[in-house]
Amino acid sequence: MNFDGNFYNPSEEVVNNAHIKDWNKLNKFASENPEKFWTSMAEELHWFKKWDKFLDESNAPFYQFFVNAKTNITYNCLDVHKNSYRRNKLAYIWEGEDGSTRSISYNELYNEVCKFSNVLKSMNVQKGDIVTIYMGRVPELVIAMLACARIGAVHSVVYGGFSTESLHERIEDSVSKVVITCDGAYQRGKLVNLKDITDGAVDRSGVVQHVICVKRTGQEVNMLAGRDMWYHELMQLPIASIHCKAEQTDAEDPLFILYTSGTTGKPKAILHTHGGYMVGVYASLKYVFDIKDEDRYWCAADPGWITGHSYIVYGPLLNGTTSIIYEGAPNFPFPDRWWEIVEKYGVNILYTAPTAIRGLMRFGDAWAKRHDLSSLRLLGSVGEPINPEAWRWYNEVIGDGKCPIMDTWWQTETGMFMITPMPCMPLKPGSGTKPFPGIEMDILDEEGNSVADNEEGFLVIKNPWPSMMRTIYGNDERYVEQYWQKYPGMYMTGDSARRDSDGYYWVIGRVDDVIKVSGYRLGTAEIESALVSYPDVAEAAAIGLPHELKGNAIHCFVILKSGVTNADELPDKLKLHIRHEVGPIAVPEKIEIVDKLPKTRSGKIMRRVLKAQALGQDPGNLSTLED
Ligand code: PRX
Repeated sequence: MNFDGNFYNPSEEVVNNAHIKDWNKLNKFASENPEKFWTSMAEELHWFKKWDKFLDESNAPFYQFFVNAKTNITYNCLDVHKNSYRRNKLAYIWEGEDGSTRSISYNELYNEVCKFSNVLKSMNVQKGDIVTIYMGRVPELVIAMLACARIGAVHSVVYGGFSTESLHERIEDSVSKVVITCDGAYQRGKLVNLKDITDGAVDRSGVVQHVICVKRTGQEVNMLAGRDMWYHELMQLPIASIHCKAEQTDAEDPLFILYTSGTTGKPKAILHTHGGYMVGVYASLKYVFDIKDEDRYWCAADPGWITGHSYIVYGPLLNGTTSIIYEGAPNFPFPDRWWEIVEKYGVNILYTAPTAIRGLMRFGDAWAKRHDLSSLRLLGSVGEPINPEAWRWYNEVIGDGKCPIMDTWWQTETGMFMITPMPCMPLKPGSGTKPFPGIEMDILDEEGNSVADNEEGFLVIKNPWPSMMRTIYGNDERYVEQYWQKYPGMYMTGDSARRDSDGYYWVIGRVDDVIKVSGYRLGTAEIESALVSYPDVAEAAAIGLPHELKGNAIHCFVILKSGVTNADELPDKLKLHIRHEVGPIAVPEKIEIVDKLPKTRSGKIMRRVLKAQALGQDPGNLSTLED
């Protein structure tokens, strides 16, 4: 890329080889003809029956897309490729943390998914039933997701780093009769017993009838007769045939729910559908990561988050891509593990998060320079703003200055990239450039007016898009209230941003009580309710403070109940308690014991005042402060 003082411009070669060579032309077409734009993408996919109408807005904000169409996302992920020249192409190359590897072709993936679909059917899993999946990063996680979708069941993947408590809460909320888990996972050479965690969650739940356990580590686990079954044994039964027709789901039938943190203590289940979600992730991956048939693509996220759902599982499979899945940590056993994988498999596209880039950058350039990374063509970033220093390192040391960086802004709720470059676009480090064609966005002030260039405001989306969430499962009111009430008719992202005079967007961060820690999304309320569930704690407040590697780190303030002694050891005990209640990702950096918390007269904790105090900044308007 050539830097002209303002922009990093892609080389002629990149532009000439890209699917989209003229972003402005495509954007103009999409904004003038959104229906034509989206339906032309949809036409590239298979439908059992085409739609009567592209968009039904009659019950906004409960929008419907591809009305009355019949499809099944797995038909497009599997059958279409199995019936084409891609039959024996690799769908996944998997590498375990312990160095073991597996390659799975489209044909094999099709067989495995059909077999497991039949297993689920034999357990009476029906269309619309929710199945919870709690596993490490193994191919069976993908197989389980696809098998649910194939029979019209709805998957609810819970990230393998969540605790017993969090898993229990999600199983109960979704009323899952079946839970799929594994015996354990490797974590930096250590074994984590996921089956134990699952047992803890399931034992207390009245809803689960079957637990299916994948053998990964071979460690000793408890198997409860009548309830627990081994995956590999089920897959050998005659019932597990390699034939299972995809259920003809309605475009608006639910595909999955995915819990994410919001502003209350209870995580919300974001619901996505078969039709619109499929079109959005297919088109966005194709154009943004410029997918070519011969590419080897690696999204290094966890399939348990939306990035994994959209861009490890569905997007790549819809595009018939070969993806890499790596089980372990980026720097295990050495800080060049990722670079070794890039070289070994000839990865062309690498998509990861700023926190991982910063984490690897700190080990110096030499680890990357040991490896031939010349196969890389495009790089990607997601999850939080990327600081220019990390962007430049990623560009120069990893991409050798020739790989455009796709800094993609999006959310669990949006399903697909919303602000993102395409390879043909000039880049600025730290900006995701402009909204994806067909997406209308704006930045508003408190009253709903567009702010001037370079001014900060609330980031909103002004028109519905096919891969948008449809609701919060089981809570339509909260969906309306949380996303659509502040500015009627517009989707409120919860982020603040500014737009520069070139029309480039710069996302600043969350404006609600959500903290992004190492790209993970956590609600202050979840952490606070975990803290006050500890017997010694009377009140608690959690805030995010800038952190060099993690982006943000959690800092907590607690008021103890009167009469509590031995407070010295309490912060460490509370950290353990949070690990147990929420999971290791939520463990605070620091917990301070205080006598008072700043509150409004109505008793709400003013986190912004705590934050300003901690940063030594002016706390701003204090007129609502009680004391
Ligand atoms: O604050 C934004 C930040 O991540 C939030 C969404 O989190 P989640 O639903 O977990 O999805 C993460 C992966 C899609 C957003 O509201 N965020 C995500 N991508 C970026 C980002 N902030 C800045 N730049 C990004 N590229």
